[in-house]
Amino acid sequence: MIFTVAVDGPAAAGKGTISRALADRFGFAHLDTGLLYRAVGAKGGDPVQAAEGLTPEDLARGDLRTMAAGEAASKVAAIPAVRAALVAFQRNFARRAGGAVLDGRDIGTVICPEAEVKLFVTASAEVRAHRRWLEVGGDAAQVLAEVRARDDRDMNRADAPLKPASDAVLIDTSDLSIDAAVEAAAAEVARRLG
Ligand code: CDP
Repeated sequence: MIFTVAVDGPAAAGKGTISRALADRFGFAHLDTGLLYRAVGAKGGDPVQAAEGLTPEDLARGDLRTMAAGEAASKVAAIPAVRAALVAFQRNFARRAGGAVLDGRDIGTVICPEAEVKLFVTASAEVRAHRRWLEVGGDAAQVLAEVRARDDRDMNRADAPLKPASDAVLIDTSDLSIDAAVEAAAAEVARRLG
């Protein structure tokens, strides 16, 4: 069976948690596409070469989840040749046998416009910054400023900007528990699976 679930949305909206839960529940493979951009940003040197030569070891680095790695990722993610170098890998993953969940910024709009299910997971910037702060600690005001800066860069870049696909189902997790958000997402997948 070929079945793609595209999960897009801004930083710390809950995409990763929802995507992992969907993959578990339906037995699909999961790809966190943000990790690709984080690995390119962390590798240093020429970002286009880094994207073209990305290895499994690059993706296994222990320092990809930091705020600094997120910031570096969103800078290299604005470079069209970096994005182009990562398209084929993501599309192959999406169409693998047995079903796949991909989470990112442009999965439903650019990578998999034909995805069977498209979700756009969002939450207010304040709620997202608070969640990120619980993970990384530090100065709460600075975490909010960084979340806003990353939103701004991701939504306003020319190539594959963050925006919901016209046929995406919106899930606002500002006032939802993790369980409630996962159930809302799972209901969409179950409906499409029939
Ligand atoms: O986990 P979080 O939502 O904070 O970030 P992420 O999903 O790991 O993505 C890090 C950065 O990579 C984002 O801010 C985007 O700039 C970029 N990205 C992208 O451009 N396209 C994707 N499909 C995934 C991530």
